[in-house]
Amino acid sequence: MIKIWFGIAVLAVGSLSAYFYANLKPTLTFQHFASLSEKNISSKDYAAIVKLHSEAFIDSNRRNLLKYYQEVVHPDVAGVASTLMEKKVDEMVERSQKNKKESFREIENAFIARRGEEVVGFFDCYEDHEVSDGQILISNLCVKKSLHGQGIGTALTKHAIAHCRKPGKELILTVYKDDLSALHVYEKLGFEKIDLIADPKNPFVFFNKVMMRYRDNIDAE
Ligand SMILES: CC(C)(COP(=O)(O)OP(=O)(O)OC[C@H]1O[C@@H](n2cnc3c(N)ncnc32)[C@H](O)[C@@H]1OP(=O)(O)O)[C@@H](O)C(=O)NCCC(=O)NCCS
Repeated sequence: MIKIWFGIAVLAVGSLSAYFYANLKPTLTFQHFASLSEKNISSKDYAAIVKLHSEAFIDSNRRNLLKYYQEVVHPDVAGVASTLMEKKVDEMVERSQKNKKESFREIENAFIARRGEEVVGFFDCYEDHEVSDGQILISNLCVKKSLHGQGIGTALTKHAIAHCRKPGKELILTVYKDDLSALHVYEKLGFEKIDLIADPKNPFVFFNKVMMRYRDNIDAE
């Protein structure tokens, strides 16, 4: 009998702690940066964003780059050559991760999300881009990998809709077809899939991706 009461007490304390932890977690705050140049952002925050972005995208980048090489560049390759191709893809991914430490400085109109002091999410939006003219592109939207599934991606996307939109301009984004979680979040918040016109000069940028447009009659909040 004592054992049963002890078990119930442990369960009750556990549930209460989980409830309070979930409800006392600090809410998200957002910070806007006109650019990520050294004068605008601290080196600590910059490093946090680069790390967060690298970890969030590395698996899907690698998976899709390999798929691109297997299906488009060398569809006839097998055996040892296939292993060499995987190695080449790994090297390319590693190089792009290293370049990111510099290339992120060029990003403009960026937003970071914090929970307490911790940087937990990122996105940027811009108008002059390789994807299309006359539209605003939300890009690089990502959440710290260890915190996926806690509603941060939904909050980031709502913030992007509220702060990137401009009258008379379409709000768009691109997403890998196999990124089901991102597709779900975007569709839930009012984005719809549209045709993606691939750029023949830069075919990988659009490989295995869909473009989505925000339906302007939807209110994100
Ligand atoms: C996409 C991303 C931003 C989502 O962030 P997140 O904080 O995990 O998002 P949320 O917790 O708000 O929502 C995740 C949703 O996906 C759903 N989901 C999870 N796995 C899923 C799957 N396999 N299929 C469909 N939906 C899925 C969850 O149920 C949840 O939806 P709900 O809130 O309606 O229940 C995050 O996964 C990420 O950073 N991914 C890597 C970067 C990336 O791909 N960015 C998008 C490119 S533009």
